[in-house]
Amino acid sequence: MAVPIQIHPLVKSSQGPRDSYGRAMNYLRISLTDRCNFRCVYCMPAVGMQFQPRDELLTDDELVRLVGLFVQLGVNKIRLTGGEPTVRPHLVDIIRRIKSFDGVDEISMTTNALILSRNAWALKEAGLDRINVSIDTLDPDKFRMMTRGGRLDLVWEGIKAADAAGMSPIKLNTVVLKDHNEHDVHKMAELTLDHDWHVRFLEIMPMEGVGIVYDEGLVTSAETQANLEQHFGALEPIETHPSDPARLWKIPGAKGSIGFISPISAPFCDACNRVRLTADGKLRLCLIRPDEVDFRDMMRAGATDEEILRHLRAGIWRKPWGHRVHEGDRETVRGMSQIGG
Ligand code: 5AD
Ligand code: SF4
Repeated sequence: MAVPIQIHPLVKSSQGPRDSYGRAMNYLRISLTDRCNFRCVYCMPAVGMQFQPRDELLTDDELVRLVGLFVQLGVNKIRLTGGEPTVRPHLVDIIRRIKSFDGVDEISMTTNALILSRNAWALKEAGLDRINVSIDTLDPDKFRMMTRGGRLDLVWEGIKAADAAGMSPIKLNTVVLKDHNEHDVHKMAELTLDHDWHVRFLEIMPMEGVGIVYDEGLVTSAETQANLEQHFGALEPIETHPSDPARLWKIPGAKGSIGFISPISAPFCDACNRVRLTADGKLRLCLIRPDEVDFRDMMRAGATDEEILRHLRAGIWRKPWGHRVHEGDRETVRGMSQIGG
C-alpha cells in the first residue's frame, strides 16, 4: 500500500508532541489494569486469558509521574481505560492527582459501568469529566451472553448514576456482531430519542484472541446504518470534529446523536491524535500495530525526568502511520484489554 502523506489540517495545528508525519498527539489513553469483571466475546477469549502479576503493572506513583511528563509535553486530554478501570484500587485518588496537573483540560473514562453506581459522585468530584460506557444490547439475556455473565440491570444503574452526577455527554459504545446484537441496534438508537446521549456503533477489530469472532462477526457501519434507517427513515448527518473517530448522525427530532466508528471500513489514521500507555508502562503507538516503548523498567532503573521526556518525544516521533487490517494484515500482539481500547 502506498503510504498516504496527507494528514488532517486540524491534527497538524493541534498542540502536543509530534510524530514524523506531523500529527500532534494531545490525547493520551491510559490502561489502568488488564483485568475486568466481564469477559466480552469480542474482547477476550473464552478460556486461556492470562492477567499480568500486579508487580508488573505501574504503581500509582509511577503512573502519575509518567502522566505528568506527558502533560509537560503538551498532552491535555486523558482517557482512563482497561481492562476495566473501576477495578483498579485507588481510582478516585489517581484521578485527583492527574487532574491536579496544570494543563489537563479533560479526563474521561471508558467503563462497563458494572460497579459505577457505587462511586460515580466520588469520581466526578475527583475530576472525572465524562464517561463512555460499553453496552452492546438492552436485552438482558443477550447482554449476559455477550459479556459472558454480565448483569444489565447493574450497568443501567451505573449509567443513571453517572448521568445524575453530571458526567455529560454520556457516550454508549456498542460493538455490533452478527448473530449476537445486530438486530438490537435500533433499541440502542432509540435511547437517543429522550436522552441527550451519544450512542456509537463500533466495527469489531481483530485483536489478539478474538480473530475468529472478527472473521465470523464483523458488521460494517454501512450495514448497521442501513439497518437503523429501515426503522427510523433517513438519519440526519451532524458535523463532526475530525479527530473524533465517530461519524455523527441523528434521528430527526432526537435529543442525542448516533455515531459510527469504522476502523475497518474507513480507517481514520490521518486524523489520529492519540497515543496509549499500557498498564505495564509501555507507550503503545497504535492500537493495532505492535510498536511499543517501555517506560516501566526505565523508571525502575532510575531514569531522570529529562531522560524520560527525551524517550517520550523520540517514541512518539516513531508512531507508525496506520494499520492494514482491511487488506487482511494482522499484526497485533496484544488483546484490547491489555492495551486499552
Ligand atoms: N473491537 C472493537 N472494539 C472493542 N472493544 C473491545 N474489544 C474490541 C474489539 N475487538 C471496545 C469495547 C469498549 C472499549 C474498551 O473497546 O466495546 O468500548
Ligand atoms: Fe471488559 Fe471492556 Fe473487554 Fe468487555 S470490552 S471484557 S468490559 S475490557
